[in-house]
Amino acid sequence: MKDILQELEDRRAVARLGGGQRRIDSQHARGKLTARERIELLLDEDSFEEFDMFKAHRCTDFGMEKDKPAGDGVVTGWGTINGRMVYVFSQDFTVFGGSLSETHAEKICKIMDMAVQNGAPVIGINDSGGARIQEGVASLAGYAEVFQRNIMASGVVPQISVIMGPCAGGAVYSPAMTDFIFMVKDTSYMFVTGPDVVKTVTNEVVTAEELGGASTHTKKSSVADGAFENDVEALAEVRRLVDFLPLNNREKPPVRPFFDEPGRIEESLDTLVPENPNTPYDMKELILKIADEGDFYEIQEDYAKNIITGFVRLEGQTVGIVANQPMVLAGCLDIDSSRKAARFVRFCDCFEIPILTLVDVPGFLPGTSQEYGGVIKHGAKLLFAYGEATVPKVTVITRKAYGGAYDVMASKHLRGDFNYAWPTAEIAVMGAKGATEIIHRADLGDAEKIAAHTQDYEDRFANPFVAAERGFIDEVIMPQSTRRRVSRAFASLRNKKLENPWKKHDNIPL
Ligand code: HXC
Repeated sequence: MKDILQELEDRRAVARLGGGQRRIDSQHARGKLTARERIELLLDEDSFEEFDMFKAHRCTDFGMEKDKPAGDGVVTGWGTINGRMVYVFSQDFTVFGGSLSETHAEKICKIMDMAVQNGAPVIGINDSGGARIQEGVASLAGYAEVFQRNIMASGVVPQISVIMGPCAGGAVYSPAMTDFIFMVKDTSYMFVTGPDVVKTVTNEVVTAEELGGASTHTKKSSVADGAFENDVEALAEVRRLVDFLPLNNREKPPVRPFFDEPGRIEESLDTLVPENPNTPYDMKELILKIADEGDFYEIQEDYAKNIITGFVRLEGQTVGIVANQPMVLAGCLDIDSSRKAARFVRFCDCFEIPILTLVDVPGFLPGTSQEYGGVIKHGAKLLFAYGEATVPKVTVITRKAYGGAYDVMASKHLRGDFNYAWPTAEIAVMGAKGATEIIHRADLGDAEKIAAHTQDYEDRFANPFVAAERGFIDEVIMPQSTRRRVSRAFASLRNKKLENPWKKHDNIPL
């Protein structure tokens, strides 16, 4: 009996070593943790329960039958993050370069199926040379099985991908279909075709880091949502994110204890908006002053900075923030910011996370590059996302809300529940100068007349009261009381019930 128990321990010890000490050392030498070390950091201490530790591949080509490491290059199972259940898979680069075989894919599929059935997020740690070359089409089939599950799980349980090594070829499409992608600077990359193929086909010379590193994907392509210095930081940030999210689409987001008075008055907000309407100010200051304990988890911080997206808590409850940033491109909407915010709004709506929209938008960015790039369709994404969202929606206009962008940014007309404006708000078709130049074109040569017309337009429209008279603005509020007003608004919406008409699915302008 003792021998049998010992055999289990021995087999476990071998499995835990993955591809062996030499390869573990080489992983460490690159500044990377092993698959198991990553899981340990991600999950609560001693909470990990493993599946399929002894599962091995079935390949008999290229002498593979002589090398059948236990676990086959991926560690899978479930555990908890601050007491809440998550499923996890972590690819082991020390075993055949973490490459995906048929059985490796089966292990991932098993935990994804359980995650959907039991209603808990899936966190995938990617560190892989891609398809297991020795297995050919069986490996490709394995990828497709995972892809199909990513699609079915989308909107049912949150899916988070952490890229901690290579992720190339078709392998990128599994993370691409998850809700959030995080990368580690200098040790991870994602691309569909690598630098060698790029050189052959397009003659471009580019390094793996330039082509698909963390900086590229968080600043240029927007494929990734966050870039971190090392494995430890990335995993700690995933834990922080999970704390904001519900476990599945049938549950509300978690309510955390809070130590911040919901009625907190912030007098400094009364002077946040500068006298000169063209002077920028930092919208993040408002977000931090509204949030419980000033805690803001930003998503896509380095991309399309003219719009800010992320999570805060109000009275302990998760709220998604979408905010124009006057510091960048005057806070205008363009292709990139519309796409970024639309995806975020849809994530919130999938998972019943209420949305707070902070508006200071001078309109859509003009120009040929925007029009040729399809700003019409991309801008429509954000409009569509807000309009279809049934979660509680609270909007605060701090300053400009001009033109179509006024409508887009969670206006009353898109079923905004509470639409507030600060006294500094200007809700109009366009700014006074532009408006005057169009409707008083005949007076353009007369500076005095134009100045008078501009002043007249400002007096009539550069305020929130015309909209308030119509009921498009529910209330003009003091900036200092924004946290209190917004918290109370969301509190009153906790039992909101709103359903869209039945349909198979919508046809959002992709
Ligand atoms: C089998 C693989 C492998 C793979 C790496 N290994 N990739 N084994 N299938 N795809 C093995 C190596 O043989 C080696 O084994 C170990 O993993 C580590 O690899 P190294 O090359 O020594 O590591 P490194 O120098 O860090 O380079 C990592 C790498 C490189 C850049 C990932 O290994 C590489 O280019 N691999 C091939 C990538 C590839 O072409 N994959 C298929 C892409 S197509 P030993 O025993 O020496 O430790 C694809 C399509 C997916 O993925 C389609 C989905 C629809």
